[in-house]
Amino acid sequence: MSKKKLRRSGIKIMASLILLLGSLAYIMLLAVINGSLGFVAAMGVTIFGALGVAKALGESITLSYGFIIGLAVGCGLLRGLLRYLEQYSNHYIAFRLLAVLRDKIFGALRILCPAKLESKQKGSIIAMITSDIETLEVFYAHTISPICIAFIVSIAVLLFVGFVSSWYLALVALVGYLTIGVIVPLISSGRLKESGVKYRAEFASFNAYFLDSIKGIKDIVLNHAGEERKAEVNRRSNELLKETKRMKHLSTRASSFTELLVSLFILITLTVGILLVHFDMLSVGFMIVGVVAVFSSFGPVIAVSALPGNLTQTFASGDRVLNLLAEQPAIRPIQSGKKFDYENLEVNDLSFGYEKDAPVLQNICLNAKKGEIIGIVGESGCGKSTLLKLLLRFWQKDSGRIEYNGIDIDEVDSDNLLANVTMVSQTTYLFDETIEENLRIAKPDATMKEIENACRLASIHDFIMTLPDGYQTEVGALGDNLSAGEKQRIGLARAFLSGAELILLDEPTSNVDSINEGIILKALKEQKRKKSILLVSHRESTMAIADRIYKIKDGKITEEK
Ligand SMILES: Nc1ncnc2c1ncn2[C@@H]1O[C@H](COP(=O)(O)OP(=O)(O)O)[C@@H](O)[C@H]1O
Ligand SMILES: [Mg+2]
Repeated sequence: MSKKKLRRSGIKIMASLILLLGSLAYIMLLAVINGSLGFVAAMGVTIFGALGVAKALGESITLSYGFIIGLAVGCGLLRGLLRYLEQYSNHYIAFRLLAVLRDKIFGALRILCPAKLESKQKGSIIAMITSDIETLEVFYAHTISPICIAFIVSIAVLLFVGFVSSWYLALVALVGYLTIGVIVPLISSGRLKESGVKYRAEFASFNAYFLDSIKGIKDIVLNHAGEERKAEVNRRSNELLKETKRMKHLSTRASSFTELLVSLFILITLTVGILLVHFDMLSVGFMIVGVVAVFSSFGPVIAVSALPGNLTQTFASGDRVLNLLAEQPAIRPIQSGKKFDYENLEVNDLSFGYEKDAPVLQNICLNAKKGEIIGIVGESGCGKSTLLKLLLRFWQKDSGRIEYNGIDIDEVDSDNLLANVTMVSQTTYLFDETIEENLRIAKPDATMKEIENACRLASIHDFIMTLPDGYQTEVGALGDNLSAGEKQRIGLARAFLSGAELILLDEPTSNVDSINEGIILKALKEQKRKKSILLVSHRESTMAIADRIYKIKDGKITEEK
């Protein structure tokens, strides 16, 4: 992932991220103004000091000593206040924006759900919500304003030195600023970027291996593989340490090089100042004022030269976040479409492929009505799950019709569709909450009685009652103690509780022992009078309860009995 090239250029990423600021741009402006004035105030302390010295050296300065000292002290106090305001606005923006960004990402995920997310790695999405967004904090709080501030303060100092002291000194300062603030960052960013990418790759590899080892610890112990694993963890840890050292080494070298350059330019400024005095082109007093102004003005460009190490990470994070925000959903929810109360399903000539020119399903025809259990069989990968997802409009069909009570699925209100049709898949995910809360997601306002009824229908009520806290038992506390079959029965209870009249079952018993399968099938059979059930399975035993069976092969469907 980290080796992937960015889709956008650095400039484009910066511009897009700044555009995301929206109405917070004003506060950013405030941060920049406060920051710039803050630096100017900091310089004011030394410059007014220098003015005092210049006056003592006999320069014609009209300000009184008292006034000059007052100004210097005032600048000092102002510096503190302005710095505070700058940091405050920066962080205000950054954290407000992170909240906005998180919201946007969740919004994007909700629209992309569930189709697009199947193909996206869950890990990268988690990384995005956690670390990528945190990285952007650096951008908003510590990148934009330093660059603007360096620009503004440098120009202000150049003008001040030029007009008050000498344009020669201003020229030396300009060369210094460009070297430290532009050339050095450009050179060092190349190297830092390379080592940053390597570091992240090592970091990711170490983390993945370590987590994987913890997950598989049981099998490691069973196979006496502990020593080998440990050796490998150590090896990767050492690699990571090596990369960390290299990166720190590089960034330390870059920053000490910057410091060296600053000293060098201070020396050059001083030399030029002395020469100017020597050739009578500048008085001693104003030379001191000019030189001191230049001395004290490198802070903002030093801050900029320290950026590139962070910036590459920021760009990578920004790129990923922007990619997700720009992602087009496979399907958009229909907000005020037609509503129906499920009676029957009629599929005609339905064709679909995930990629163009690679059809998965072709001219599928199938029907179902209340009171029927329809079986769907076919080899793994033939498109059974795909068909069920199309019936839920998780993906947009390419052609043909999927009609509920005669209304095509593309005209049906999305919420209404999900109120009528639900799915239980191979595995049921249970959240780390109580059993009751886990069931309630199917119908948030369900009464306890409704929940218990659904569980009775799914033959899981008695089991739940044996748990230490019954329906209030925390799933997390049970650990691995819920079997796959019990989880599936909870999934089935959810489907019953939701009140959906058409229940799609995608190999609901494939991970389940035969006792649990028997229980689940019996539960389904008892429900069939009131509902339609579409049951996908490749097991003969499962298909025994089906009234009719369709078989999918090579993208085509045929009815079997
Ligand atoms: N999200 C997806 N993107 C691209 N191809 C997919 C996706 N999901 C499934 N496929 C492909 O579509 C075909 C049918 O898959 P699927 O419907 O899951 O089969 P089944 O459920 O019958 O085992 C397979 O070749 C599979 O690789
Ligand atoms: Mg499948």
